[in-house]
Amino acid sequence: MHPKMKLRRYAGAVYDREELDSMTSAMQDGWWSGGERTELFEHDFAGFLGVKHAISCNSGSSANLLAMSALEMELGAEVITPAATFPTTINPAIVTGLSPVFVDVELDTYNIDPIMLEKAVTGRTGAVMVPHMLGNPCDMDRIRNICSRHGLRLVEDCCDALGSKYKDRPVATFGDMATFSFYPAHHMTTGEGGMVVTDDGELAERLRGYRDWGRLCNCEPCQEVARQKEGYLCPKRLNFKLPDGTPYDRRYAYGYIGFNLKMTELQAAMGLAQLKKLSGFVEARKRNFDTLRRCVENVTHFLLPHTYPSADPCWFAFPLTVKDGAPFYREQATRYLESRGVQTRPMFAGNLLRHPAYQNKGFRVVGKLTNSDKVMKDTFFIGVYPGLATEDMEFIGEAICDIDNGRAGLPGK
Ligand SMILES: Cc1ncc(COP(=O)(O)O)c(C=O)c1O
Repeated sequence: MHPKMKLRRYAGAVYDREELDSMTSAMQDGWWSGGERTELFEHDFAGFLGVKHAISCNSGSSANLLAMSALEMELGAEVITPAATFPTTINPAIVTGLSPVFVDVELDTYNIDPIMLEKAVTGRTGAVMVPHMLGNPCDMDRIRNICSRHGLRLVEDCCDALGSKYKDRPVATFGDMATFSFYPAHHMTTGEGGMVVTDDGELAERLRGYRDWGRLCNCEPCQEVARQKEGYLCPKRLNFKLPDGTPYDRRYAYGYIGFNLKMTELQAAMGLAQLKKLSGFVEARKRNFDTLRRCVENVTHFLLPHTYPSADPCWFAFPLTVKDGAPFYREQATRYLESRGVQTRPMFAGNLLRHPAYQNKGFRVVGKLTNSDKVMKDTFFIGVYPGLATEDMEFIGEAICDIDNGRAGLPGK
């Protein structure tokens, strides 16, 4: 790529003075751990989705770790998930002593194949962990139906899917819990950051407990009052006894094998400013996706993404898969796009089980992973983030058409 060529990134943070001012004021307050701003951010984020509880944390991966911990399932209980996903969708299940079970994805939605999901259910299955890949909502009717018939917990990994809807309801409102990431590539950012949402008050308490060192003292009003009134003592705090009868300050009693995954005031300050812009970000992503889709409608060598009729995605990115029999390889196509300043990325891990960390671990796989392998070999994605304008999407569309119709002059197979 020529140094003067405009770069069309796959993603990036979009912000202005508001975020910087908000963070400056958080810095000046002198309390930089979680505090008033994290509480307000949780409150406003819950309001945006229409859920009862939002628990902030320091990344989407941590949000998944909290969700898996809060399930408190028996050691070895199985969690079904797609093989083509982001590693930390499922790593938290593994490190919390659960057993992942991998099934294939559908090729055109890139989401978990519900037929294979149901085939994978056994007496040991405890939960289903489904990412809405690149923001494209999964087939939630079928997945919910499977979960309720078999009594399974459902966690939605919405790290790529903030703003996506299914049957006019935000994704994240279909399972027991849902998780979000605020890494700069995502729909809004706090630098690093994440959130778990749930309508279940008991799960919300557990999530806060696991996040805050395992602390038992995690109920919402207590946290707020303790901060607002210096010197206030919650009656629960001093009337608490440990299991052996020893009286102990409940704020230093540990009810969970917990972590410290808290979000800071600085991150929340940025999140609050970003939240105000979120509806605009969602519109821009949808507009960019639609523009690119129109530009590449007639390509013959690429598989275009498919969406369920009930789904209304707010795309993280635009996926393309080089079809079998195309006269070029994916690497030739992506090299050409990069040479024209269009950033590309593979579909995260592709088939996760082909990576070194997942070798020889004895993970259960149900069915063939043909589509996950195809994704690993032939899929890539391109940006639709709000930093790209309609002209950028048209430029990208033209470059893709050039590859498709041979004008790009790729060496070929
Ligand atoms: C589907 C999915 N889950 C989880 C994560 C992890 O989020 P984070 O980078 O905030 O840890 C990502 C990150 O991009 C993701 O795409």
